[in-house]
Amino acid sequence: MFRLRRYRYYVFFAAIVVFLLFRVAQNSEQWETVSASFPHTAPAFDPNSPPASKPIVNKHVDTSLFRGISSEDDDLPQRILDRPTTDSAPVKIPDLPKLKTTQQVNDDDDNDEGDFELPPKSDPIVEQAGVLAYDHEGAAKATTAPVINVPDKNVGQGAKDVDKKPTTTTIHWKKVPEHFPVPESEIIPLPTGKPKKIPTIQYAFGKESAENREIREARRQQVKAEMERGWAGYWKYAKGHDELSPVTKKFRDPFCGWAATLVDSLDTLWIMGMEEEFKEALAEVEKIDFTVSKRAEIPVFETTIRYLGGLIAAYDVSGGKSGGYDILLKKAVELAEILMGVFDTPNRMPVLYYNWKPQFASQPKRAGTSASVAELGSLAMEFTRLAQITKENKYYDAVARITDAFYEWEERGTSLPGIFPERIDSSGCNQTAQSELEAAQNAAELEAYDQIDSSNDLGTETTLTDEDKVDFESDVKPKGRHNEPDNTKSPIFKRSGKSTALNLNVVKKKNPKTGKVELVAGQRTLPECVSQGLTSGSWGSEQYSMGGSQDSTYEYFPKQWLLLGGLEPKYKELHLKVIEAVKKWLLFRPMVPDDRDILFSAKVTTNGEPETDARTIYEVTHLTCFIGGMFGLGGKIFEVPTDVEIGKKLTEGCVWAYESTATGIMPEAAHVLPCPDAKNCHWNQTLYEHTLDPSFESRDQQIKEYYDRRAKARAAMRKVKEEMKSEEESSSSAGETEYPRKSIFDEKMARGSHAGRDNANIRKRAPVSATENPADDAAETKLLPDKSKAKSSAAKFEDLEDSDPAPGFKKEFVDIKIENEKLPKGFVTVNSRSYILRPEAIESVWYMYRITGDKKWQDEGWKMFEAIVRHTTTDVGSSAIDNVLSTRTTQLNEMESFWTAETLKYFYLLYSEPNLISLDHWVLNTEAHPFKRPKAPFGV
Ligand SMILES: *[C@@H]1O[C@H](CO)[C@@H](O)[C@H](O)[C@H]1NC(C)=O
Ligand SMILES: *[C@@H]1O[C@H](CO)[C@@H](O)[C@H](O)[C@H]1NC(C)=O
Repeated sequence: MFRLRRYRYYVFFAAIVVFLLFRVAQNSEQWETVSASFPHTAPAFDPNSPPASKPIVNKHVDTSLFRGISSEDDDLPQRILDRPTTDSAPVKIPDLPKLKTTQQVNDDDDNDEGDFELPPKSDPIVEQAGVLAYDHEGAAKATTAPVINVPDKNVGQGAKDVDKKPTTTTIHWKKVPEHFPVPESEIIPLPTGKPKKIPTIQYAFGKESAENREIREARRQQVKAEMERGWAGYWKYAKGHDELSPVTKKFRDPFCGWAATLVDSLDTLWIMGMEEEFKEALAEVEKIDFTVSKRAEIPVFETTIRYLGGLIAAYDVSGGKSGGYDILLKKAVELAEILMGVFDTPNRMPVLYYNWKPQFASQPKRAGTSASVAELGSLAMEFTRLAQITKENKYYDAVARITDAFYEWEERGTSLPGIFPERIDSSGCNQTAQSELEAAQNAAELEAYDQIDSSNDLGTETTLTDEDKVDFESDVKPKGRHNEPDNTKSPIFKRSGKSTALNLNVVKKKNPKTGKVELVAGQRTLPECVSQGLTSGSWGSEQYSMGGSQDSTYEYFPKQWLLLGGLEPKYKELHLKVIEAVKKWLLFRPMVPDDRDILFSAKVTTNGEPETDARTIYEVTHLTCFIGGMFGLGGKIFEVPTDVEIGKKLTEGCVWAYESTATGIMPEAAHVLPCPDAKNCHWNQTLYEHTLDPSFESRDQQIKEYYDRRAKARAAMRKVKEEMKSEEESSSSAGETEYPRKSIFDEKMARGSHAGRDNANIRKRAPVSATENPADDAAETKLLPDKSKAKSSAAKFEDLEDSDPAPGFKKEFVDIKIENEKLPKGFVTVNSRSYILRPEAIESVWYMYRITGDKKWQDEGWKMFEAIVRHTTTDVGSSAIDNVLSTRTTQLNEMESFWTAETLKYFYLLYSEPNLISLDHWVLNTEAHPFKRPKAPFGV
């Protein structure tokens, strides 16, 4: 079994390697969107990064594979822009930044994801091959793309350190002039005025009994001990790196290598009173150089919520200005200044994977055509809080424009009004309109040529105006060829575009060659396009849910409203619309064994006519578990008590999902069965079994046919029986081995696969359940092969006769499925069984406790804590596990920074006194980083 599984991984890995070969020269928006579908996970793959070993460094590699230019590609214009200019002098590609090179090269285990190393220059294989397949720039060098002109002297920080070695150049990010700056007068300022009186969120906690206090304190200490253990492990084995690899005691750098766990955990250290560790960590923070990274692209969303959010919150919780830890704000501003570059697009929508090196960053660019909702909408709180602290409106402007775009789209309408499809075209270009426009232009041009041609054919003089002449001469084509494809216009540009309505400072210039107007920005031009707001980024089917890739945009609406002291009403409106849509389309009550009254939020797909074509997927995902807290929080601040009630049921749903499994931990993703009637819902075993057997309906038919055939066979058999009787005596025990004991079906089931559709291969199996198949009387049962008895020839005969499903198979299929998959009752499938130390469930439990004051949430949270600790604990930290359905689960050697930033923080706050990070004074970002709310007349 183990071997088989490993083999599967290798095959999978090999497939990825092959795919990478094709994609390596391409920029990575599509790739990133893949990893973005679970925004809290480490980016699964940076397309510019290599796999763990170096299998693709191969001198026989066909470099044509790396050209990767396809006009079918949506993001090609962006990539073209990102390519270096042709006229640059060829210069060596500089080495990697020097910042964190120690040991990493040796750390094979840990360099596999989101991280890469360049082989040393002297690597003979590399030299022979002439191309580093996994090196973005190297690949570019080996292809049609021109080489990059890089100054051979260091720029930015660190230049002094290497002034004696000018050959090894570290590229640093540096500020480049904006192409599409917002004029000073148009910067959207933070709302001003006196913060609104906002209803209290927290329950009015009374005095705690000594007994409760004792339990709570003991639990709090245990949570803190976990933090101390994990932090010590990180500090010892991974200090300065993004993550501890808690099993192998090494490290990984999936988040640019800026010490993600360290920055992400600062406020947790402070909140837990680990002041010494906090101060030690600050010394490390000071060393972080955000201007260099081993990653070619900065993942903007992850960087914002983890690093920027982490720094700002650490600054806030440690006392802000009066706290005296100015380094935190200094670093936050340093990082924010780098990130501000992503907003420099014509419509000011951000590029979400920032090609930060100056030669790329300096080029004009557009936002992506397939951004995830979550990544686009979850920058708001961090930049807003920074604007408040620094009094720099530009940070607020950057994110306010995104909110405005969502707001405008919401008013224009989406397929499910109130919520947004998972993929968004944020480019600002209406490609449909642009194609129409170009078609019209082409038609007009053709007409013009035709007129000229025909007049020439007639041999008459053609009088042209000066302007016509210029146009004609500059763009003339050989006679008779004008019907051929227009090669002067690259197909690339047809697929791109340029927004005008939201454009700022774009210079229009007439291109002397084509006579067309183009928008000019800096040394390059972005092709013209018809402007539009946000639209769906996918053609045809759209997906709507509160899960991964979408979650935190919705989470931020009410939180952003709080952060702004209720002074920006758009966030309230957006939130209330979201809630309405979720209630109408997504919420469902699952059918669970003890008829618990719980809720989950589903996923809906539609082609744009949801009233008729909406398809609901009754999913249960860990990421969606945040939603209980969102309903609770929104219900309190906007005074909608039913939303708080819904929040409780949603939270109870996740509690149920935890309780149901063998480990006591909820799986990453699963499906359940909705109640046919949410008001009156009872467990229906038959219905559940029908759902588990995907071939249920046809199996009924097959079984019926089986009985018919058997009846016929039996009639024929009776005749033969008589004749065989004498023969039988002499060979009574001979036939045993002729009946295969293990059918293909057995093997498939043993592997846990869904064998249900393989009916042709399914053989008769062991005893039959009389209740399930009333027609199957005792006499018939006796005729089935049975290990304990010698078979009669008659039975043998029958067995050969029937190769279809046996009676009782239906029931058995379901039982075996449940047994083999260890499927908890109520779950229909568990499509992702891992637990990666995620916080969303305990997050909602914490909100429920603080909002309702009900101690039961502390008890439910404690069951979660004990289960998690039991299965994830390693020598030096905590690890993701691969299968929550089995107590013999495997630890995956990953400890994401949200374990110490979020999960342990929420547990700790659940067992702290309720005034520690009170929701009436703080608002937490999606990475559990508390930001100070503006002072308002709370009455608390
Ligand atoms: C894009 O252009 C098409 C065709 O002109 C138009 O029907 C559509 O409404 C436009 N879309 C947006 C979002 O403006
Ligand atoms: C249980 O489900 C089966 C199959 O859908 C249905 O026929 C039956 O009526 C249900 N029983 C009850 C009590 O609802």
